[in-house]
Amino acid sequence: MQTVIDAHNLVKIYDAETIPVYALNNVHLHIERGEFIALKGPSGSGKTTLLNMIGGLDKPNSGHVEINGVNITTMKENELIDYRLHNIGFVFQAYNLIPVLTARENVEFIMLLQKTPAQERNKRVSELLNEVGLADKADKRPSELSGGQQQRIAVARALAPKPQFILADEPTANLDSVSAGNLLDIMSRLNKEEQMTFIFSTHDQRVIDRARRVITLEDGKLVADEKRDT
Ligand SMILES: Nc1ncnc2c1ncn2[C@@H]1O[C@H](COP(=O)(O)OP(=O)(O)OP(=O)(O)O)[C@@H](O)[C@H]1O
Ligand SMILES: [Mg+2]
Repeated sequence: MQTVIDAHNLVKIYDAETIPVYALNNVHLHIERGEFIALKGPSGSGKTTLLNMIGGLDKPNSGHVEINGVNITTMKENELIDYRLHNIGFVFQAYNLIPVLTARENVEFIMLLQKTPAQERNKRVSELLNEVGLADKADKRPSELSGGQQQRIAVARALAPKPQFILADEPTANLDSVSAGNLLDIMSRLNKEEQMTFIFSTHDQRVIDRARRVITLEDGKLVADEKRDT
């Protein structure tokens, strides 16, 4: 198997000068290509912090993260921006859609930054809008879409450039159960067909049930790591 992510001894402390909060407390994690992983744990257990570390959005106080054998923790910010753009797809709690762009343009955005040829870009955007069930909303701006629809656009945007792995922070949090199920179907199809690796944090038991590996955090510690068949 091919290792995609290796996190070593990650420690993240907030408010180190006053009352230190160990958002991550010595977390080790090894993730291989094609895994489909749910990250669970109570509110405040460190799920978002861990996703941010793996995605290179924030640096740990100690420890480091390797992606494909490359240490991203010591990378300079400009190198890291480029690395993220070409390797990692993000789906966040706040969707970060660009308000002046239409749904189609938002989905296209990362591929534009990557200089994907127009024909391929257009084809991929149309496919994805269909897949997330929003082909008829392609020309709407985010403010004209519901929260769940914005969420689906954010997911389509992350999937569009076919990144090696997707980090998703509670991707189904604002979705009704039908939309959440559809989203899981898309994710698991891409996982199976394209070997795309997924790591998603979630509180939703139905989402946890679809994962093939479930990692549990408590107070910044990794307390359980179970693999299973689905
Ligand atoms: N920017 C910050 N400044 C100070 N403390 C922070 C910051 N971000 C997170 N924390 C603290 O770190 C701990 C872990 O937070 P984190 O957001 O990773 O939890 P979570 O598991 O994602 O929770 P939730 O399920 O509510 O999203 C919490 O105690 C939180 O209060
Ligand atoms: Mg969180």
